[in-house]
Amino acid sequence: MSNFMSTISYQFYITRRAICLQTKRLTATPPWWSWFCSVNCHTVPEVVLQLNEQKGTPNNKVTKRCKKQRPSCQFVLDHFDEQYSKELGDLWASARTVLLDPNSWQYGVMLNRFSAVTDITEILQIKGFSSLLLQTDLQSEHSLRLPHSTLQCYIHPYPLRFPSQAHRPGQLKQYYLLNAASLLPVLALQVRDGEKVLDLCSAPGGKAVAMMQCATPALLCCNEPDPHRRDWLSRTLESFLPHSLNSRVIVSAQDGRSFGQSEAGTYDKVLVDAPCSNDRSWLYSSSSQQGEQRLKERARLPALQAQLLRSALSAVRPGGVVVYSTCTLSSSENYTVVETVLNDCPEAEPEDLWEEIAIPLSKYFTFSPAHPDLGILVVPQPGKTWGPMFLSRIRRRK
Ligand SMILES: C[S@@+](CC[C@H](N)C(=O)[O-])C[C@H]1O[C@@H](n2cnc3c(N)ncnc32)[C@H](O)[C@@H]1O
Repeated sequence: MSNFMSTISYQFYITRRAICLQTKRLTATPPWWSWFCSVNCHTVPEVVLQLNEQKGTPNNKVTKRCKKQRPSCQFVLDHFDEQYSKELGDLWASARTVLLDPNSWQYGVMLNRFSAVTDITEILQIKGFSSLLLQTDLQSEHSLRLPHSTLQCYIHPYPLRFPSQAHRPGQLKQYYLLNAASLLPVLALQVRDGEKVLDLCSAPGGKAVAMMQCATPALLCCNEPDPHRRDWLSRTLESFLPHSLNSRVIVSAQDGRSFGQSEAGTYDKVLVDAPCSNDRSWLYSSSSQQGEQRLKERARLPALQAQLLRSALSAVRPGGVVVYSTCTLSSSENYTVVETVLNDCPEAEPEDLWEEIAIPLSKYFTFSPAHPDLGILVVPQPGKTWGPMFLSRIRRRK
């Protein structure tokens, strides 16, 4: 067990199985209870716990029975050890500890501004969650100059997981569970009302939903070429957005590499949340054969990512911006892709996210100090398990 975990006197997860809420207000709120009891039990860890909570002091007596954890894939781990100890130096040992301990992973709860139900904020606060983007972040010396006042995400200092909500046709979900670092590319994009926005690699749609929490664009085109993932994307959009936005939010099925040709200069903002080696899930490959296969395919990703980024730079209008992001620590899929594309696109100019995002949000996230001129990389660390997430913002010169 990591140092981090051993210093925690409690760890609690929510299940519908066994929960004692002694907060009068909560037990007196039937809609919350019925919502809570309706969650899909299979989506949360197999953990039994008891919460005896008081507002703001989650020093609960907890009984936990963790589901047996799937072992990590030694083949992938060896590969990561070799690569990331070189690329991340000392940060890798602590990132490794987090990645190898899924019980330490934190979850963010992004609220859905379109859902009518209003008691979630109170429930989250009672459980010890706090808002990720506090007004104080906005007003600090290194202020976040971002139009995100309607984007609300709650995080907890410990790995408490809210239950996910099942898809119910015709009913909007109240919140989306996510790795809070996933919001950073959306914040960097700075979507504003009335803009035309392209989400080039969109499924399952978490960042598209986050963009719609920030502003009401004239058009959000969510592109996803994989048919199964596109169905998932459509379900996500249906679960979070009201019908009144149907004409503004469209789903397209192109190969992102050719999007720039077919819709050149059309968009104000483009997000390229590229297919990448997903470090968290690859580490839990079901067999060394699967791990080996994934690592072989890894070599092909930078070329695909560079093509997608070039296509995005063609799809954006002169003066518009592209945000490129991945959920890998791998330098060759992050800094190298950005650098390669900048080298052959003289009209593309990288923008500083270190001052704008990394410094103001450094109390929540750990950023690698490497190459801040090309982008910023969130590295999971004990107590701040968010990431991996790389993001770079590139403006197309006028
Ligand atoms: C990291 S995921 C995107 C996650 C999504 N942005 C979100 O926040 O939920 C990358 C997506 O890119 C899609 N993809 C793969 N190849 C693509 C291509 N050539 N063009 C566009 N999208 C592609 C994958 O199917 C996958 O759904």
